[in-house]
Amino acid sequence: MSVPSLPAELAALRETAVSVLRGNDLGDITRPSPTLYPHQWLWDSCFIAIGLRHLDPQRAAAEILSLLRGQWPNGMIPHVIFAETTNFYHAGPQRWRCDRVTTTAGGAQSTGVTQPPMIAEAAVRVGAMMSDSERGEFYRRLFPGLLRFHQWLYDERDPDDDGLVSLVHSWESGMDNTPTWMEITRPVAPLGVRALRRVNGDDALDALRRDSKEVPSDERLTSGDLFTLYRIVRELRRAHYNFREIRRTIVPLVQDVAFNAILVRANEHLSTIAAEIGEVIPARLRRSARRTREAMGELVVDGVYYSRDFRTRTLLRHETIAGLLPLYAGVVPEDRVDEMVKTITSPRYWSRFGVASVPLDDPNFLPRCYWQGPLWVNMNWLIADGLERYGRLDAAEDLRRNTVDVIASSEAMFEYYSPLDGSGAGSNRFSWTAALLIDLLAADH
Ligand code: DGY
Repeated sequence: MSVPSLPAELAALRETAVSVLRGNDLGDITRPSPTLYPHQWLWDSCFIAIGLRHLDPQRAAAEILSLLRGQWPNGMIPHVIFAETTNFYHAGPQRWRCDRVTTTAGGAQSTGVTQPPMIAEAAVRVGAMMSDSERGEFYRRLFPGLLRFHQWLYDERDPDDDGLVSLVHSWESGMDNTPTWMEITRPVAPLGVRALRRVNGDDALDALRRDSKEVPSDERLTSGDLFTLYRIVRELRRAHYNFREIRRTIVPLVQDVAFNAILVRANEHLSTIAAEIGEVIPARLRRSARRTREAMGELVVDGVYYSRDFRTRTLLRHETIAGLLPLYAGVVPEDRVDEMVKTITSPRYWSRFGVASVPLDDPNFLPRCYWQGPLWVNMNWLIADGLERYGRLDAAEDLRRNTVDVIASSEAMFEYYSPLDGSGAGSNRFSWTAALLIDLLAADH
């Protein structure tokens, strides 16, 4: 593969990125980070493939195809497919016990929830680096499973046929502890957590958690929140991961704005893939895809997009980065685009390092805590893509440059960065940061 000609400093940074990806490579899957996330994650693998395509398109295609190993007979592609590893993971197969309710296509163990459907986007990006015949072959292998995944999203998660799919766990959103998700999740905290919270004793749980060995606990979600997410897994397990049963439990159900925005774009890419190999998207799915596009309009008030509570149909009125992804989806009406771009580029979100996950003036803002303020390279990538497709080329370019700069100044591939000072937080050998850096440095994004 051709290596872009870069100034020495950036060439060295790219080398660091390549070595992080190599270090996290487990064959035909890439773990997001060596110790914190030692298995395969759905949307991580998609972003990773978008970077790997510049190094080896066939390896990138294998990264995407390997997600199908985890596909359930009902069509779901799980958020984590467990690898053969002895590395400890805090929410491993024992917590899910999915083998009691189903199998996976490749026999791997998995979690019982999904993650944002970035597969079609990643596939098209990888396909663009292949010859026509290689691309045709790749798409033909991917298409049947990918089609079934999109159909599952609607059949299982849009039972009322309103076009918006519902999520059953914040891990499905990929943005585990945004203020939106925590508002709806905290009321179902286990009794012990609620009791401790009343006496301000959340910290007492810190000793029990096992996800914060690599990363300081104040950069992760709070222990109380983590134990609440475990409780929801328990409820899902008892409901056999079946939406009809889950609906009857206390599990919060959210029509997540970012997930649905990504789905809008994914449906378009799925059509592109189908057209290229002479396949037809079934009429029902085409209709659902149209409905999702239209229904995004129900999530907006005064130009701000929110997620919605599936049970009560009320909007969860927190502004977060999730509400900026309708720009990536291409669903923002032309006469509202300026306003949205103004919001994104205002100091509330936009620092010289990228877009914060929670506005800086929000009372929930914490600059180094996971999805409660830090900026994320994948979010910058998605928003830059949206800005570009809406013709806001200068803003797109600034955002891409700022993203490269913040990674460069940290000299490592951090999981997320403080929007206040650009300091890195979370894991520091994080695969999608490395992969998307490689993509940003390539001439043709
Ligand atoms: C974790 O392991 O904390 C993940 O965010 C779950 O997807």
